[in-house]
Amino acid sequence: MPLLDTLARFNDAHPWSHNAHFHPWILRQLPRRFDRALDVGCGSGDLARLLATRANQVHGIDSDERIIGKARESTDPGLPVTFAVADGRSYDRGSPYDVITCVAVLHHLPLSETLLRFRQQLAPGGTLVIVGLTREDTRVQTLLGLVSVPLNLVTGWIKNRGRTAPRRPVAMTAPTRPADVPYTEFVREARRLLPGVRLRRRLFWRHTLVWKKVREDVDPGRLGSTQG
Ligand SMILES: C[S@@+](CC[C@H](N)C(=O)[O-])C[C@H]1O[C@@H](n2cnc3c(N)ncnc32)[C@H](O)[C@@H]1O
Repeated sequence: MPLLDTLARFNDAHPWSHNAHFHPWILRQLPRRFDRALDVGCGSGDLARLLATRANQVHGIDSDERIIGKARESTDPGLPVTFAVADGRSYDRGSPYDVITCVAVLHHLPLSETLLRFRQQLAPGGTLVIVGLTREDTRVQTLLGLVSVPLNLVTGWIKNRGRTAPRRPVAMTAPTRPADVPYTEFVREARRLLPGVRLRRRLFWRHTLVWKKVREDVDPGRLGSTQG
């Protein structure tokens, strides 16, 4: 469709990261200082470096070797951040973490198993923060998606004002894939596996999740999984 092509061309010429847009919000969900943090699917490491301003140690993992190379290149060796090529579906070394973050990655991973693993890997009192993508299956989401179209144009224009040849942020070169889990299924699983979880639908085709692990958490292994 000509209108969609025009929108796509404008957006390509005015790139900005919808994921990085949530970084200040993510920091606001976290304690002022914490010990160990894990960023799953860290991409080019922007969030890991931000977390390092509050943490004693941050570890970023991503399954893509090229993007981990970019993350290492962009990181001052003096920062308490390490990166590794690892699969978020099975990564289980060195827990517990006081903070686990996962931005625009959960839809690459099996939903229930991953939420359970995060619950197990969090230290008592720790915080899990997810910014995610799901398939739209509610009216509210469709409406937020529609409102996001003009806001996306305006934000892209403002962020790229004065630049002659805007370049895509390195973070936007990380592998992506469309989300196929419907939002309602995500909500059901998140509430089942993470009691007391805070969920919100957001602009720019995202939703957010915050969960704090209580100190006397039950063994989450008993909750099992309802999907593969
Ligand atoms: C859309 S990018 C988001 C990157 C980064 N979190 C950000 O906000 O810019 C999705 C990332 O998930 C990573 N990824 C996909 N499958 C993965 C897996 N099984 N384990 C770890 N990382 C994975 C991709 O390599 C990619 O870097």
